[in-house]
Amino acid sequence: MAVSDCRVFDLPIINDPRGNLTFVEAGRHIPFDIRRVYYLYDVPGGAERGGHAHRNLHQLIIAMSGSFDIHIDDGYEKKTIHLNRSYHGLYICPMIWREIDNFSSGAVCMVLASDFYDERDYYRDYSEFLADVNKG
Ligand code: TYD
Repeated sequence: MAVSDCRVFDLPIINDPRGNLTFVEAGRHIPFDIRRVYYLYDVPGGAERGGHAHRNLHQLIIAMSGSFDIHIDDGYEKKTIHLNRSYHGLYICPMIWREIDNFSSGAVCMVLASDFYDERDYYRDYSEFLADVNKG
């Protein structure tokens, strides 16, 4: 799985003078079923999150409020995506190292994930991740 498999999905928007509405349907708007939702909030200025990769997990990351940068890396190619719209979702496939920084004040980062939390699914060591990527 490569950086080129990760992409920003345009989620549906129901425009309404009372306020806009966006929704996400598993398998229709994103290529996986959702088993878990988590979110980062109250992130202090200058903080960095992420710093890991997943063996099997698929994720969609949405800036529910505010903005932040996501740096993705498949061991060969790197890319930075700035998320700042609640109707954009960055799909991250398995085997992608990610770091998230440049959080605006009040930013909320919501993550839809394909499976329950499992520490065994993480690479927390970049050199271990790179070694497995190079094994193919
Ligand atoms: P981590 O995934 O490293 O956070 P981030 O990617 O945002 O930097 O998780 C931080 C801590 O929270 C770690 O101890 C594991 C725990 N955690 C859970 O218990 N459940 C979860 O769903 C997540 C995402 C993390």
